[in-house]
Amino acid sequence: MKKIIFSGVQPTGNLHLGNYLGAIKNFVKLNNDDNNNCIFCVVDLHAITTKQIPKELKENTLETIATFIACGIDPKKSILFNQSQVPAHSETAWILSCVARMGWLNRMTQFKEKAGKDKEKASIGLYSYPVLMAADILLYDASHVPVGDDQKQHLELCRDIAQKFNKDFNVEEFFKVPEPLIQKEFSRIMSLKDGQKKMSKSELSDLSRINLTDTKDQIVNKIKKAKTDTLPMPSSIDELRKRPEVNNLIGIYSSLSEESLEKIINTFSGKNFSEFKDFLSQLLVDCLDPISNEIKKLKDDKEYLNQILSDGSKKANEIASKKIKKIHEIVGF
Ligand code: AMP
Ligand code: TRP
Repeated sequence: MKKIIFSGVQPTGNLHLGNYLGAIKNFVKLNNDDNNNCIFCVVDLHAITTKQIPKELKENTLETIATFIACGIDPKKSILFNQSQVPAHSETAWILSCVARMGWLNRMTQFKEKAGKDKEKASIGLYSYPVLMAADILLYDASHVPVGDDQKQHLELCRDIAQKFNKDFNVEEFFKVPEPLIQKEFSRIMSLKDGQKKMSKSELSDLSRINLTDTKDQIVNKIKKAKTDTLPMPSSIDELRKRPEVNNLIGIYSSLSEESLEKIINTFSGKNFSEFKDFLSQLLVDCLDPISNEIKKLKDDKEYLNQILSDGSKKANEIASKKIKKIHEIVGF
């Protein structure tokens, strides 16, 4: 039995190093393992929970697919599609929103962060966002969901919704209860300007993140300007943990090079920060330059990208339409 892997990424532009190290790098590994059937979805329905410009949304959907492929996901092996093309997602989300409880959703920290101070002005979609995410996962009987650390709470909610549906309708194991796949280390890449804030597409300052389409010069400049402190490089893990910005930069280095923190600390201990930053910039450029060139090349071939989306949506529809039929029977439609 192959494992079914499902994950989603929003087409909100500016895919960054956090998306890559927290999620997409792992997607590539899972895609390369023949024991897995992978489904990667561009979640355009999730994107419109905050204001989007329609023309840009379309472009960003294609760019997200281009990024998946440029990072090494093989569209012949994995199903790549966009959520809005498979109507069962919205329909299942509605049904599951009648299973999920207000009390559960009220605890979601991402809503609180995204809605900010004026919750009354947030869209209802932003509030019920995790229910749609549960629908995405449960429609495909996914056993494993690779995500960054920020999605952990949403996955726990998905598990609760699956279990409550199975119990309420007396259909044991109808919805498979999925397991999260979250990297143990560096599953949350932080902003280059503030080690307490996660790297994010929505942060105003572009200097806070490395975009996957940044040029060499932009990468070098952003690392040069990345916040550190006035001390030299740390000499122990304990010291590292007390210095959030430094922890983040060394974490990025470790995640990209797959070298242990200990080894990196030993190499740079007591040295000047600028020396470490030069090595980090070089590592980032070596890793991201081929990806960024490939994204740019693929983005020009809209016909190819649209064909992938169309083929992927067909395959996804075949799976999802069977599941929604069963859901109808269970619910009594
Ligand atoms: P999003 O762009 O919000 O759709 O996120 C796509 C994937 O990237 C999800 O699995 C997130 O958990 C992951 N992700 C987003 N930002 C970060 C970050 N700063 N660090 C690690 N993972 C992240
Ligand atoms: N909510 C996820 C994010 O913001 C994206 C997402 C939507 C997702 N549906 C999903 C992730 C299903 C995993 C599985 O990053």
